[in-house]
Amino acid sequence: MAEPLLAVRDVVKRFGGVEALAGCSLDVAAGSITGLIGPNGAGKTTLFNVVSGLTAPEAGRIALGGARIDGRPGHAIARLGLARTFQIPRPLARMTVLENLLVYAPDQAGERLRGLVSRPKTIARQEASIRARANEILRFMELAPLASDPAGTLSGGQKKLLELARALMGDPRIILLDEPGAGVNPTLMRSLVARIRELHARGVTFLLIEHDMDLVTELCDPVIVLAEGRRLVEGPFAEVRRDPRVLEAYLGVPA
Ligand SMILES: Nc1ncnc2c1ncn2[C@@H]1O[C@H](COP(=O)(O)OP(=O)(O)OP(=O)(O)O)[C@@H](O)[C@H]1O
Ligand SMILES: [Mg+2]
Repeated sequence: MAEPLLAVRDVVKRFGGVEALAGCSLDVAAGSITGLIGPNGAGKTTLFNVVSGLTAPEAGRIALGGARIDGRPGHAIARLGLARTFQIPRPLARMTVLENLLVYAPDQAGERLRGLVSRPKTIARQEASIRARANEILRFMELAPLASDPAGTLSGGQKKLLELARALMGDPRIILLDEPGAGVNPTLMRSLVARIRELHARGVTFLLIEHDMDLVTELCDPVIVLAEGRRLVEGPFAEVRRDPRVLEAYLGVPA
């Protein structure tokens, strides 16, 4: 079997007495849209935080394309091609939609080198190409008409699209989406699903947390069920949703 794009092994993350990840192991196959479901508090967002380098695990190993990433800082993991979105979108509210993409550009040589090395032409060229890329992504996400609006004025659903747009700035191989459908109206939801499908067709792998089971049915295969910080079950959603262990995890009682 091919090596997974993302491999999580025996990962532990504690918050005081709470073991949010309790020896969590799972794989995400390259080219998949893998669903991650499970009851509230199962550890789904914590898994994203640990994988994306927002916080370090206490134990375990995580590999992206065969390279160890556990405990590495988020910017280093992003540079290896992993992007993530947040359950609660956090755009820089006073900046415009376009500026929100520009601040997420990888390797902003213009910022880092300014005043140190005098290569203004190179910097200007880089800034122009970053801007062109941001505008292209906004067109792709159908957010171009809002490019000059302060991000804080967007609707909840538009902020979700902006989250995905920001994630695309680093040209990721894998995108972790935390509840992309939450609070998104049906029209924007169509747009979101279409964008995910198109990115997937272009070779982007997804790991997607979602409580909206219609969205999971439509997009995800396989689906991994997380419960109490561990992988409980994995398989096609049609099978997973009938599994008595899954029903018990959701209902809190034997099914
Ligand atoms: N920063 C934190 N400090 C303390 N406890 C935390 C922290 N983050 C998460 N937890 C706890 O870890 C557990 C897992 O939380 P997590 O947010 O990962 O769950 P989730 O599966 O994403 O849930 P939901 O579906 O509600 O978003 C919960 O018990 C939560 O209260
Ligand atoms: Mg969560």
